Amino acid sequence: ETIYVGADIGGTTIKIGICNEQGELLHTLEGPTESEKGADAIVNNLVKYAREVVEASSYEWGQVGGVGVGTAGFLDIPNGIIKFSNNLNVRDVPLKKLLEEKLQTIVKVNNDANVAALGEAWAGAGRGIDNCVCYTLGTGVGGGIIINGKIYEGFSGMAGELGHMAIVPDLEAIQCSCGMTGCLETVSSATGIIRMAKDAVERGDRTSLSLVPNIMAKEVIDAAKAGDEVAVRIVNRAAFYLGKSMAAVAIVVNPQRFIIGGGVAKAGDFLFDQIREVFKKYTPEQAKQGVEIVAATLGNNAGVVGAAGLILRSN
Ligand code: BGC
Ligand code: NA
Ligand code: ZN
Repeated sequence: ETIYVGADIGGTTIKIGICNEQGELLHTLEGPTESEKGADAIVNNLVKYAREVVEASSYEWGQVGGVGVGTAGFLDIPNGIIKFSNNLNVRDVPLKKLLEEKLQTIVKVNNDANVAALGEAWAGAGRGIDNCVCYTLGTGVGGGIIINGKIYEGFSGMAGELGHMAIVPDLEAIQCSCGMTGCLETVSSATGIIRMAKDAVERGDRTSLSLVPNIMAKEVIDAAKAGDEVAVRIVNRAAFYLGKSMAAVAIVVNPQRFIIGGGVAKAGDFLFDQIREVFKKYTPEQAKQGVEIVAATLGNNAGVVGAAGLILRSN
């Protein structure tokens, strides 16, 4: 039996797992990314975890059909180079080449959200659907476009960087970690939600959040659910720009399903209903008919499963 190793490089943690040809996750483990120690540390950690996850399973390295890797950042996908990662704080890392040398097997590298989208399409909320678009709402906002069952990468690997859609009007736009202003990520990521909450508290707005010592996105969402007007406004704003961005994507790609994952998506229907409403408002009847906006189902494992799927399901 051939097995496929999938790795998901996040800002703090590398998750790694083994899948079979059906996309079933057979074994997983995780360890620190240590991106603050630089690109070498990231590569060495990944190599170590890849060997460990196979050793800890009932399989042998000889059965590995390849290693797929998803990583945050703007990539040269065919060559497996991280050009710039705002989240890992690295530039020009030839990840594919380094990993192939050390692991002696084929390695494919792709964007973390593209890979999560592939995972959901393969074995999650997009199963059986040819065209879907995924958003991951975490530290950043990630995007992945699946067309005819495969990741759409675009001309230079930048397709699906939906978090950097410049959608906030200039008068309200703030700087994004990518260097631009007004990106979707600045309002709809966990980071954006936390920033807006802290700004409100600092301004002296009347909100229950002023009593929270260390505001996280979850606290803001919970406060909004409890009716705190300041928190409601913040979550509304996050949902508004997500819905508008989906309306734009719908008219370009016409996917059958939008799949939303990541920590912020745990807000559930409270957030989703707002997104659906905005999406409907800004999308012509024929482009929204039959189109669903649903929650991701693989949770934290989408990236690992999709990364393993890169070996079987990418070009
Ligand atoms: C990065 C993307 C990534 C997303 C989710 C963004 O800040 O620029 O490359 O896919 O975060 O991690
Ligand atoms: Na992407
Ligand atoms: Zn940006």
